[in-house]
Amino acid sequence: MGNKTAKDSVIYMDNHATTPIDPRVLEEMLPTFTVTFGNAASRNHAYGWEAEDLVDQARDRIARLLNCTSKEIIFTSGATESNNLAIKGVAQMYREKGNHIITVVTEHKAVLDPCKRLESEGFEVTWLPVRRDGLIDMNQLADSITDKTILVSIMTANNEIGVIQPIEQIGRLCKEKDVLFHTDATQAVGKIPLNVEAMGIDLLSVSAHKLYGPKGAGALYVRRRKPRVRLTCQMDGGGHERGMRSGTLNVSGIVGLGKACDLAREEMQEESSHLSALRDRLQSRFTSSWMRSISMAAWSIACPAISTSASLMLKVNRCSWESMMWLCLQVRPAPRHPWNLLMSFVLSESGMNWRIRRSASGWDGSIQRKKLTMWPTR
Ligand SMILES: Cc1ncc(COP(=O)(O)O)c(C=O)c1O
Repeated sequence: MGNKTAKDSVIYMDNHATTPIDPRVLEEMLPTFTVTFGNAASRNHAYGWEAEDLVDQARDRIARLLNCTSKEIIFTSGATESNNLAIKGVAQMYREKGNHIITVVTEHKAVLDPCKRLESEGFEVTWLPVRRDGLIDMNQLADSITDKTILVSIMTANNEIGVIQPIEQIGRLCKEKDVLFHTDATQAVGKIPLNVEAMGIDLLSVSAHKLYGPKGAGALYVRRRKPRVRLTCQMDGGGHERGMRSGTLNVSGIVGLGKACDLAREEMQEESSHLSALRDRLQSRFTSSWMRSISMAAWSIACPAISTSASLMLKVNRCSWESMMWLCLQVRPAPRHPWNLLMSFVLSESGMNWRIRRSASGWDGSIQRKKLTMWPTR
């Protein structure tokens, strides 16, 4: 065991950052590198047709997970690109209708930054705050919509604290006000049921590597009926993806994304109860009295300068012990960050000050059975 790395001594609780590829996803992807390697846009030979069939199958699989039609799925390189295409694409296409966009201060940078860019180009952006529980205030959203509003972009599940916004209510409000609704569902797809019809979603961003698929593959759902959403493409070229996203398709990544979505659809319910049970068990162990003492000890050793008094814990709100525990897990000497304690802007925006980011995964990537995996955080 001479090859010990920093990974051996730490546990990974950062499946919001990325997940390992499910071996069944990898298995479907492998032939696309060497056997079915054609360009899906090659219309005049069998290699191209074969690749196109694989892409079509993946489109169908994603559409089934989201309850849309396969024609409404546009492949991208991941959620960052999907968000950029949705937000800038709508802003540019509907500029004559209005120049106002609404988003939330706790969005991922892949939403915040395109909105900031548009603001610098003359669009008006409303940055909605969140309440202490991390949720938006629906009345505030309703009051913010004006006759110049063209887009509301609000994430489904937050990547830092996991809070789930009232998507169905937001969708309904946007329909009533005739405003397009985009949701960055990167952290929700495959984890909770999503139905773009029932939820009134017009655009939805997906990323494969958050649901046991490969990195560098994603999709954007773009509604085609009631209303038909039109986008200005952000990449000019061969006119792939119905002109909305040019560039040779990443067939391997797309196959992986499709398979990951298919597995999620089949296993979401079981996986969700399994992970909830593991989470609850872990949480109850951590909150048992002797573990509390250990957490407290670890906490005080790690952060001697910070008070560990009861009042501090009360300030951390309902999940005080849990918060402390995760902090203790994160606070450790690490080569690049002497004390790997990072502040969370999401928690600060919610009126709290600590980083809590945790997520369990069902696969450890090497062992062919389900278990809770925890790998190092960077
Ligand atoms: C909520 C959210 N949106 C967007 C992204 C960016 O996704 P991608 O890595 O596919 O570009 C992430 C990734 O961390 C995310 O958590």
